[in-house]
Amino acid sequence: MAPMSARITGWGRYAPERVLTNADLEKLVDTSDEWIRSRTGIRERRVAAPHETTATLAAVAGKRAIAVAGLEPDDVDLILVGTLTPDYWMPSTAALVKEAIGNTRAAAFDVMAACSGFVYAYATADAFIRAGTYRNVLVIGAELLTRFLDFSDRNTCILFGDGAGAVVVSASDEEGGGMAGMEMTTDPDGAYMIWLPSGGSKSPPSSETIRRGEHYVRMEGKETYRYATKTLATSALKAIERAGWDPGEVDLFIPHQANIRIIESVAKGLGLPMDKMFVNVDRYGNTSAASVGIALAEAVDSGRVQLGDKIVFVAFGAGFTSGAAAVTWTADPLHGKRADSVVPTASVRAPVDWDSVDPMPARLMAVLAERDGVQVPLDDVVPGEPEPAHREVLA
Ligand code: UT7
Repeated sequence: MAPMSARITGWGRYAPERVLTNADLEKLVDTSDEWIRSRTGIRERRVAAPHETTATLAAVAGKRAIAVAGLEPDDVDLILVGTLTPDYWMPSTAALVKEAIGNTRAAAFDVMAACSGFVYAYATADAFIRAGTYRNVLVIGAELLTRFLDFSDRNTCILFGDGAGAVVVSASDEEGGGMAGMEMTTDPDGAYMIWLPSGGSKSPPSSETIRRGEHYVRMEGKETYRYATKTLATSALKAIERAGWDPGEVDLFIPHQANIRIIESVAKGLGLPMDKMFVNVDRYGNTSAASVGIALAEAVDSGRVQLGDKIVFVAFGAGFTSGAAAVTWTADPLHGKRADSVVPTASVRAPVDWDSVDPMPARLMAVLAERDGVQVPLDDVVPGEPEPAHREVLA
């Protein structure tokens, strides 16, 4: 039977412990801390340890969201993972996450909408629940972008970082709450503005594609910037309009964290002050499909979201995709404390007859080893969400 509403009941995030600063990047490419901070707002980003994969990051964030929802892993009926950096082309990362979190009964699949992945996956979860098909859906945005970056390309390697954010969406027999309005768009005119050329059927991997560096993310920054500022504002407005709200009524926007200047321009376009925009791009960089999920969990846990608040998720990304959701918050923010009991590690079963080569980009490893004096240990298990290196609020 269809429920009265589909509500967010759990949330969680995970960011790898190791920090890559702008000063570290100055050693790799012709850039400066000043340029990166003033053009993007990014001060640092996280880098996954060699033993971590997108599925392990996703599983930790997912386990935290399940604990916050007051559920057991087997209560989850469907697992959706938004990612553009899966562990493998197949099986899906969601299938690996299912086993890693100890779920035996859920269906699981990935949602590929680049940086809009979390919002698209959330909209998918909402639809399945409202249709009465499932009662609890785990939605995760997870990325391990540092393994898909050319650390000699200053246009891209300074922007991205690793992490995962998750929510549990549950059927409720109470009316109201949850998603009140939604908008999703895809504009293939921008198909080659952010892309990763090789590895697919058009250009299977070969020594030649690797020689050409076609296994790395490529981006036309300016065109993407122009699209982002326009579409974030229009998508958010559409979702707000469908909810029957006025932009001024929204308590907090949780925008995709790509660039502080993009977020400022969206605030300006909507005629809203920056304190209505949640910002953490300074500490994580652009974590693509993970960014809205990480930002939401951090916003709730830091007291920025209260019961009954009107919040808006809005994202854009390769494709060009864009998505926004206007959401009435119904969960007690104090439930976030339940995530503290979750061990922040996860392991994904490896095949018995196969071992991967060292997954870390050589240039990145060299700069981290030089800075820290030791190689990144393979058992670099994070004993709890690390404190951010600094907490300055961006001007
Ligand atoms: O999730 C979606 C993913 N992508 C995005 O959201 C990215 C959207 N785009 C952006 O955020 C911005 O376009 C960038 C941050 C990528 C670039 O900022 P910009 O203000 O658009 O810079 P630009 O591309 O116009 O470059 C200005 C100058 C150029 O030098 P010249 O030609 O003026 O001499 C670039 O070569 O800055 C140079 N430049 C750099 N300098 C130092 C480009 N990258 C760097 C760098 N360090 N890392």
